Amino acid sequence: MTGTAQRTPDWWKSAVVYQIYPRSFCDSTGSGMGDIRGIISKLDHLQQLGVDVVWMSPAYTSPQDDNGYDISDYQDIDPLFGSLADVDELIEGLHSRGMKLVMDLVVNHSSDEHSWFQESRDRYSAKSDWYWWSDPRPGFEPGTPGAEPTNWASAFSGPAWHWDEKRGQYYLHIFSRKQPDLNWENPEVRKAVHGMMQWWIDRGVDGFRMDVINLISKTLPLEDAEVVPGQALSFSGSYVDGPRMDEFLHEMNQAVLKDNHLLTVGEAPGVSVEQAAKYTDPSREELGMVFQFEHMGLDEQPGHGKWALKPLHLPDLKANFAKWQHGLEGRGWNSLYWDNHDQPRIVSRWGDDSPEHRVNSAKTLATVLHLQKGTPYVYQGEEIGMTNAYFTSIEQYQDIEILNHWAEATALGADPEELLESYRTKGRDNARTPMLWDATDKAGFTTGEPWLEINPNHTEINVEAAVADPDSVFHHYRKLIGLRHDNEVVREGVFALLEPDHEQLFCYTRTVPGQPVLLVLANMSSQACTLPEDLRREGAVLLATHEERRDDELAPWESRIVELA
Ligand code: NOJ
Repeated sequence: MTGTAQRTPDWWKSAVVYQIYPRSFCDSTGSGMGDIRGIISKLDHLQQLGVDVVWMSPAYTSPQDDNGYDISDYQDIDPLFGSLADVDELIEGLHSRGMKLVMDLVVNHSSDEHSWFQESRDRYSAKSDWYWWSDPRPGFEPGTPGAEPTNWASAFSGPAWHWDEKRGQYYLHIFSRKQPDLNWENPEVRKAVHGMMQWWIDRGVDGFRMDVINLISKTLPLEDAEVVPGQALSFSGSYVDGPRMDEFLHEMNQAVLKDNHLLTVGEAPGVSVEQAAKYTDPSREELGMVFQFEHMGLDEQPGHGKWALKPLHLPDLKANFAKWQHGLEGRGWNSLYWDNHDQPRIVSRWGDDSPEHRVNSAKTLATVLHLQKGTPYVYQGEEIGMTNAYFTSIEQYQDIEILNHWAEATALGADPEELLESYRTKGRDNARTPMLWDATDKAGFTTGEPWLEINPNHTEINVEAAVADPDSVFHHYRKLIGLRHDNEVVREGVFALLEPDHEQLFCYTRTVPGQPVLLVLANMSSQACTLPEDLRREGAVLLATHEERRDDELAPWESRIVELA
């Protein structure tokens, strides 16, 4: 067992978190898949970057239907990734370097191979109602289309209900059919989850990232979602931010979080600012922060799901960030992120990943995010400006979301080229290609056959090259992280958006009374841009993308952080 780290109240408000997706970070065995000992071997990289916390995506025992977000034993590590002893060593390695570990908590659902679910399939067992079981719709033959208890769609295509022969009932799965939803109405389920969390806290972990936590309370009775032609039936209002959410979170907080000063971040698709303010209001004792998704949906056609794309309109992005900055100011706390294991790479998405602009656009995107108020998250590879995968054939993909969607959409006659284009743009495997450590054949990730193709651009884009180049994306991230640690205005300042309608500029101030104001100026486009007169202000430049600077103009993807005189 590894001892607990020193945790002061609210320590996570001045921290920067680094997310590791274990299967793609570093392989220590030659299996082609990353593992925990691989992570341990790279702790110096994280220390050099300056991050305070590692959030490790699931490495628990799992059939890997959804790359580990389908857990069959919450208190063990999958042999693919190592052992509990390796986690202890990881915690020790992080703590001894002044960093902390946050585990992924995936308890909206388990794997169908979890013993809880296996037991629940017997309707006379003690765990009979640990999951959502339901009879077919009256008048329908079980297992036939339309017999599902409600019309809900799974987030991974097809209906959200699966017929189980053994039990003779349907069970609910908002994600894959190997991810049955746990029934949080049952106090025994909640108690089991709290016990498991306590076991990890005793082992030395410093917090939890809670997978789709705002789906755990369903509106009763479970009923059909309203059908709006052309709109997706996944993430129905029947189970997003349900009626007992605040109660379940407060109960969890009192049982295991309170007094431990843990970092908690709840993934909350569809959450509103008002609800997020409630979840993160310290006086309510629920969560520290949430991951909201509104900014991530700005390149989607509203209501039509993630594959119906539209170009980003910069004023929408600025308005959205401003809404969250103001909405939680003095009430809750924001998380700040561009990338994670479910999102395409930001430099390819809203930056410009051409050789000419990749470095500056990655830096400028980092600046406009990291200078906001909240806790920033850096996803592995973001710190070196890794790009999308640009796969050209369906065979290159591994993600269940993509493969299920492809099967369903092609069967319905969708154009394969259009599908491939949306996967290239928004697919999750873009974030999951192996971490690029060096320019060698397998990018220093593995000596074996990588589970997902390595981006051929690793000859240019890799950690070794980035660390050696003082002007790299890596050193820009390092300096941004340092600024958050050293500058009170970066941590505490109130945000005010400037030039909301400008289609190239993203500019704002951060203010703490009695301290110099910070002004962020950023050109978010690949064309030069005139700086409006009122933004040509005197002051010390704390960090900039360009050494040669004009007062009246920003070069393509140029940004500056100015401490006003
Ligand atoms: C959100 C996770 O981030 C994603 O990777 C996963 O597929 C779903 N939740 C289901 O656990």
